[in-house]
Amino acid sequence: REPIITVIGSINMDLVVSVDRKPNRGETVKGESFDTLPGGKGANQAIALARLGATVNMVGMVGDDAFGYELKSNLEKENVQVEAVGVTEGISTGVAVITIAENDNSIAVVSGANEKVTPAYIREYEKIIKQSDIVLTQFEVPISTVEEAAMICEKHGIPIVLNPAPFEKLSDSLLDKVTYLTPNQHEYELIKGYKRYFENDYQSKLIITKGEVGAVFFENEKPQIVSAFTVQPIDTTGAGDTFNSAFTYMMTKTNNIEEACRFSNAAAALSVLKKGAQLGMPTKEEVNSFLSEQQSE
Ligand code: RIB
Ligand code: NA
Repeated sequence: REPIITVIGSINMDLVVSVDRKPNRGETVKGESFDTLPGGKGANQAIALARLGATVNMVGMVGDDAFGYELKSNLEKENVQVEAVGVTEGISTGVAVITIAENDNSIAVVSGANEKVTPAYIREYEKIIKQSDIVLTQFEVPISTVEEAAMICEKHGIPIVLNPAPFEKLSDSLLDKVTYLTPNQHEYELIKGYKRYFENDYQSKLIITKGEVGAVFFENEKPQIVSAFTVQPIDTTGAGDTFNSAFTYMMTKTNNIEEACRFSNAAAALSVLKKGAQLGMPTKEEVNSFLSEQQSE
């Protein structure tokens, strides 16, 4: 059977401007296009999982504005269960202002309603969490909520994947509870600052995503690189989310981290071929046929 997966996380509207090059301080440059596209790491991850075939519950919050309603119905349209997506009055839905230049992006996020995904709020959905095969979360909701999620998962013996983005300092107790931690290169550099990460049991939890290089995990203290697939990116927004979802999905099917990373690299490669965070996210069939094409080359 396909897994049941809960994503606890953010829901944003992405306001995307494409430019030839980024403006310098005090400078104005002309942009080429502007798009309003559904995003938010939590919602992106939920949709990527649903495309792969998982049954997905999203635990999140939007504001009672046009973006909020649009984003909630977008999740439904993508077959994500939204029973635990609340609407809070008098607060704006999360937004991310994204500038895409030279094939790369930079993002400024305003949390808005995502801040209302509190520990008390997710406790209301303990039943949903408890019935999951695995849980995926990130840091666009309060860190106290992520800690609560890890506690609920520990209580019920449910594995939990934490994508520590955008970076926040993790407590040792949170680290103890997460099953997998998936920083990108930049987040990993910040994490390296604290010594405990290099103790053995933490190393075995780490999956580092390194963009076009690929993914790194540790086996007997040795870093293993699973190379990325080379593609011509249109928009890398959401590639990390796609990787995280594919990895989480695969962890319900195999114990083989290398195989899971290869599958996730393929999913991420496909995701960058379309504009926006969500459009390019592949189905499981698309990932598998991409992988078999790669093998026959
Ligand atoms: O990971 C990409 C996402 O980060 C975007 O969709 C944006 O909303 C920000 O949260
Ligand atoms: Na994309």
